[in-house]
Amino acid sequence: MNDRHGVERRGLKRVVVTGAAGFIGSHVVDALLAEGVTVVGVDRRDPGGDPVAAANLAVALGSPDFTFVVADLRTCPLAALFLQADAVFHFAGLPGVRGSWGERFAEYTACNVFATERVLAACEEVRVPRLVYASSSSVYGSILEGASGEKRTPTPESPYAVSKLAGEQLCLAHAGKASSAVTAVALRLFTVYGPRQRPDMLIGRALVAALGGPALNLYGSGDQRRDFTYVGDVVRAAIAAATAGIGSTVLNIGAGVSTSVLDVLAAIEELTGHPVRVNRLSAEAGDVDATLADRSRAGELLGWKPRTALVQGISRQLAHLTANSPQLANA
Ligand code: NAD
Ligand code: UGA
Repeated sequence: MNDRHGVERRGLKRVVVTGAAGFIGSHVVDALLAEGVTVVGVDRRDPGGDPVAAANLAVALGSPDFTFVVADLRTCPLAALFLQADAVFHFAGLPGVRGSWGERFAEYTACNVFATERVLAACEEVRVPRLVYASSSSVYGSILEGASGEKRTPTPESPYAVSKLAGEQLCLAHAGKASSAVTAVALRLFTVYGPRQRPDMLIGRALVAALGGPALNLYGSGDQRRDFTYVGDVVRAAIAAATAGIGSTVLNIGAGVSTSVLDVLAAIEELTGHPVRVNRLSAEAGDVDATLADRSRAGELLGWKPRTALVQGISRQLAHLTANSPQLANA
């Protein structure tokens, strides 16, 4: 079956989403359930004791088509969970760039590299046909000029970025084995934002600061630039990557617009009508100067392009925040 972009599509009946209780994973779960797919979510965070996980999964947990399994991918048996899955969306991982130096790197390697290897081995064992992996724009390091295309040699600048690149390479190595039935599509996601964004990230923190919460810790000059990408656009790309009749590959998923942190703060001040209070701190190691996606390959192979402009996406994140944090809405 071909879609309206001429891309051949495979159907999805039953899938597994790792990192299902997280920011992006929970949106992937919701979108798949809305399409009538049976979803098994796996995460080590238990909504029973973790309010963020509970909020992220609030809709999904009410669906008869959703099963949630609290499990740690570093140790739990996986093959039985993956049996008869049409695709595994591997979105579990330790995500922060700046916290990945020093002692925490052991946990980064375990959750981002070792766990990914286990997920891939289980996909091979029960012959899952497609794995979609949440890779990262951070594998590129800073852009020197123009947009980063997938052929650009990666120059990761943080331990986190090294771990995500290692996960990506593991995907391609497993998919390349002659005995393997799995095809892997690694999506290099560029700074994702929107409702349920992780609380350590810029846009959520700046919105909270504008609404009277703690001041934003601003790292460096604020001239650093990011290709901020709306979570709904990322979800559409992930589902397209699971269904497209393509071989194993790596694809950029970014809005294709690079915006400075200071410009984001100005947009938030305009939207909220309040100043964003900041504590100025020095730049953090591993924080790259700029990112920008060349998204033409995702357009060609997935028929994907972003639909959400930055101000529109921030407005949705603001509306979600005020609806779910009454103390901020009244500030
Ligand atoms: P998140 O922290 O909200 O979600 C990740 C989830 O993975 C968490 O719920 C966590 O409990 C789970 N997890 C981590 N280690 C696990 C383990 N060992 N076993 C089981 N569950 C485990 O983060 P997010 O922002 O939603 O990111 C999701 C993925 O996308 C990550 O792999 C991240 O590296 C990648 N990514 C995120 C962004 C972004 O801007 N948010 C950009 C590029 C790539
Ligand atoms: C984001 C995600 O957090 C990573 O998990 C992901 O891998 C990465 O995108 C990616 O694109 O691959 P980052 O770009 O650092 O990482 O996103 P934010 O945390 O939103 O930070 C954006 C910019 O704002 C950074 O320069 C950061 O230093 C700055 N910032 C962030 C602050 O000044 N203060 C904060 O409190 C948070």
